[in-house]
Amino acid sequence: RTVYLNGEFLPEDEAKVSIFDRAFLMADGVYEVTSVLGGKLIDFDGHVTRLQRSLDELEMVNPLSRDEWLAIHRKLVEINGIDEGMIYLQVSRGAPGDRDFVWPDPATCPPTVVLFTQNKPGLADSPAAKKGISVISIPDIRWGRRDIKTTQLLYPSMGKMLAKKAGADDAWLVEDGLVTEGTSNNAYIVKGNQIITRQLSNDILHGITRAAVLKFAREAQMEVVERPFTIEEAQQADEAFVTSASTFVMPVVSVDGAALGDGTPGRVAARMREIYLDEMR
Ligand code: PDD
Repeated sequence: RTVYLNGEFLPEDEAKVSIFDRAFLMADGVYEVTSVLGGKLIDFDGHVTRLQRSLDELEMVNPLSRDEWLAIHRKLVEINGIDEGMIYLQVSRGAPGDRDFVWPDPATCPPTVVLFTQNKPGLADSPAAKKGISVISIPDIRWGRRDIKTTQLLYPSMGKMLAKKAGADDAWLVEDGLVTEGTSNNAYIVKGNQIITRQLSNDILHGITRAAVLKFAREAQMEVVERPFTIEEAQQADEAFVTSASTFVMPVVSVDGAALGDGTPGRVAARMREIYLDEMR
């Protein structure tokens, strides 16, 4: 596989980063994941806009223009022959040559830029989407700036492991009795004609898929209610789902062991997945 590192397209085993890189030492980096369907980038502008916001929040310099980012994405898709899959992009605060809590001067310490592709044939036609996934709830003990898409992913990773150990597929994070989001996705419940999902704030990532799905839901005359909900409310809901760039709209069929409806993917989730895929590709 060919990857991108700081201006160069290289074979993956030739791409080397300093041990002093601040993403490596301090998770001082931000990232984006953009999906590819039929060789086409899905919602590229949404991701590049959020990247800018993450960088701004951390006073990091964006080393490339939108068009430069786009050209790199397109070239990697082409070189690696990606039909369905993902592109991972990471910008770190660079490698100042020593460990220090104080941020280096961007004038002397350029950011480290890494991109690579992940080939995922069958991403859109996923068996999991037909079956639905099960989630467990765990406490949300992450830091308070979840709106910034940082590479600090240890707790989400622990959450997925806890879910696996419990025989489930993923975890929903709960703070003050209310669901914030999934380990790597936004969370929704459906009641009648209402799609309910937590409002945007620093408590959750502002999902790019979330924005598109809510727009399509409103266009389809669904009522969108942006408010938090509890696990108990989710267990009583007609259906539930999660959204992310890597799963699009994924039905949730059980929450903490309680089946939702008849335990199969709900009508609204299936329809929103179909609409999303139709509109975006
Ligand atoms: N995760 N919430 C969290 C905590 C996430 O990590 C993600 C994305 C989302 C959904 O955002 P979007 O729709 O923009 O992908 C919500 C990516 C896919 C990942 O870490 O792999």
